[in-house]
Amino acid sequence: MKPSASVQHSTDEAAQPRMERLVDGERARLTFSLDGTPSTAQDGDTILTAVLTARRYLVESACGEGKRAGFCLMSACQECWVAVDGTRARACSTLVTAGMSVATGEHFTGG
Ligand code: FES
Repeated sequence: MKPSASVQHSTDEAAQPRMERLVDGERARLTFSLDGTPSTAQDGDTILTAVLTARRYLVESACGEGKRAGFCLMSACQECWVAVDGTRARACSTLVTAGMSVATGEHFTGG
């Protein structure tokens, strides 16, 4: 039996990043750690941009509401807390720097 198109699309969508770069500029590439895994960003990316161009979500909700990807994108809603080198930071307003360590969700042990 052939799988239905909607099931196959759902699986493919879950594996795709949430954001896509429409213009892949000449900016320098930076390497940083995302939940212990090497990841890349472009110079000038916020953490939120770098993460959402790599995967579908930023964090798992601490309130059991599922995966979250930020909301306001301007440091107002509290939906994007991560730990940067052990210090709490908003992903939407913190720029990626080379070598930084970003922890999200269950990897976030900051307070
Ligand atoms: S997305 Fe709202 S504070 Fe970062």
